[in-house]
Amino acid sequence: MAAGVNPSDSSLAAIISSSDYDEELAALAYEKKKEKFGDAILKRGLVEFTNCCRNDCLYCGLRRNNAKVMRYRLSEDEIIETCANGYELGFRRFVLQGGEDLSFTDESMCRIISGIKHLHPDCSVTLSIGEKDYKSYKAYFDAGADRFLLRHETADPSHYSRLHPSDMSLQRRKECLYSLKEIGFQVGSGFMVGSPFQTVDNLVADIRFLQELKPFMIGIGPFIHHKDTPFAGYDNGSPQLTVKLVSILRLLFPEARIPATTSLHVIGTQWREKALCSGANVIMPNITPLKVRKKYELYDGKNKVE
Ligand code: 5AD
Repeated sequence: MAAGVNPSDSSLAAIISSSDYDEELAALAYEKKKEKFGDAILKRGLVEFTNCCRNDCLYCGLRRNNAKVMRYRLSEDEIIETCANGYELGFRRFVLQGGEDLSFTDESMCRIISGIKHLHPDCSVTLSIGEKDYKSYKAYFDAGADRFLLRHETADPSHYSRLHPSDMSLQRRKECLYSLKEIGFQVGSGFMVGSPFQTVDNLVADIRFLQELKPFMIGIGPFIHHKDTPFAGYDNGSPQLTVKLVSILRLLFPEARIPATTSLHVIGTQWREKALCSGANVIMPNITPLKVRKKYELYDGKNKVE
């Protein structure tokens, strides 16, 4: 795959079909990353502020129907204080991530966002809080939020419906992503690699959707099963294939922020570093207070990461 060339569906599928780590592709992608970003690895402080969620996504450990989760929410002050502590550590970009927790009203989110921006005008605030109405997204933007992460998870509607309950749809997810763009957010999207029932064609469709969306950030990670979900018995995604897709994405989206994700680290500690040598340019250290960190278990083993 050459830099600057848009490969055909069949050549993309051919590269993706073999999940072997591809040294040559990784080196090309690393060169591209260096050309655009130099040696810098961008860092974001991740604050997982609530594990309560109204959704019931079949892959996610925080799904509403998982009664084994000890639910928590940080207070507004705790969230702002966590960012202040992160600021002291040198973080200037904060990602506030949570389940779709309706007890954080728009007013509450706006107080948190403007509280952080008021204390640290030189920082950016990224939200990762799921699907909301246009008017809510607009309120967050007007309160000072800069960026929004919302993975599309899979760009194939029937695959989407096998990963999500019937009250969720790919169409709605896409509407949210386009609303966010229209409002002016720098938008991040992405997908899981190796989620149950995923095909090579699904992954090609994921890349094509991202080419249409033109996101500022692209986050991908291997699917990792969680023992208390309907997907407990399914195989984990391949870290080799995930890293290969990171390289493909770097070549197709030279300017994108592409993180080496936590799920890559959890599946095997070498893979996050491999991703950084294969085109990724962001790390997102978790700065969530330790007292709640173990409870944010999207997938098995995530809580072991400090
Ligand atoms: N394995 C890997 N990634 C997962 N996510 C949720 N559950 C899992 C899982 N079991 C990812 C989703 C979501 C992000 C916050 O975490 O892609 O968008």
